[in-house]
Amino acid sequence: MPAMDPPVDDAPASGPGRLPPTIEWRDGKVRLIDQRRLPAELVFLEASSVAELCDAISQLAIRGAPALGVAGAMGVALAAHRGEDPPAAAARLIATRPTAVNLRWGVERALAADDPLREALAMAAEDSERNRSLGRHGATLLPDRCQVLTHCNAGSLACADYGTALGVIRSAHEAGKGPRVWVDETRPIMQGSRLTAWELARLGIPATVLVDGAAGSVMARGQIDCVVVGADRIAANGDVANKIGTYSLAVLARHHHIPFYVAAPLSTVDLACRSGAHIPVEQRHADEVAVFGERRVVPAGVAIANPAFDVTPARLVTAIITDAGIARRPYRPALRGLFSLPAGG
Ligand code: MRU
Repeated sequence: MPAMDPPVDDAPASGPGRLPPTIEWRDGKVRLIDQRRLPAELVFLEASSVAELCDAISQLAIRGAPALGVAGAMGVALAAHRGEDPPAAAARLIATRPTAVNLRWGVERALAADDPLREALAMAAEDSERNRSLGRHGATLLPDRCQVLTHCNAGSLACADYGTALGVIRSAHEAGKGPRVWVDETRPIMQGSRLTAWELARLGIPATVLVDGAAGSVMARGQIDCVVVGADRIAANGDVANKIGTYSLAVLARHHHIPFYVAAPLSTVDLACRSGAHIPVEQRHADEVAVFGERRVVPAGVAIANPAFDVTPARLVTAIITDAGIARRPYRPALRGLFSLPAGG
């Protein structure tokens, strides 16, 4: 595995503060927060080869669709920098995680550029700007003192900076709207309790973690005003792939008449993918479910299903918040419109 730097921060449980860059290019290496180690410690991992970066992506040291886009682009830059074959590196990077379309998008963009590193750095800067824009659009949908439920981590850690679903919440917070956040723990990798709660604590935004199975009862008690989640891929018809459990939340939200918002940059919208039926869903290792900490929690020999994502049909999505504006049903023309494409086709 790549060399680990010593921890540089004791990752305090609470208190406002800036979040460190999720991923950056430093001294000819890709330096990223090792998200497997949060919230216990903030440790950086340096990938000095494409193989090391592919391992970091596969093992979820870096994850989240927009962050994967930047990682993919930096991977191509790393290949060029080390004299590895960029097209071969690109194929290996794309194969690490199939669902988030941003990974392929980032890799292909860097591959097509004259200077892959300059392109990768531009993409990171753009991601930060676009998430701020997305956040401002989304914050207009949140009433004052809104109680928001979110799932997984769609924050700064999942992007180059700022976040998508958390970007909407951050923007509402910065505008003085006083949002409060309910955070699904998000079994089996716990991106909600480990990562989203960590970010919110550092930003000073009030948050409560709940087990995934509690979302329905909290909605039934009238404690959720809206759901805001990120996305790994949005098909042309508005179907949304996101972390497993998102679909269940959308069904619950519909039952309780609660708006269900998806926040994602246009780089997550895949107009070449006609519907959610065409989105590949990553299946991950059974041990992520079977082993909790050091302890086995499923009897040996029992079958385990571990899909990393699910697909929420467009009809359950109240609005899709992007950096270019907010799309509402019917999504096919609305999404094309955000790309400034004619509605047909
Ligand atoms: O398996 P992960 O942690 O990469 O899954 C991440 C998600 O599902 C996020 O919600 C999505 O990528 C949006 S991140 C802005």
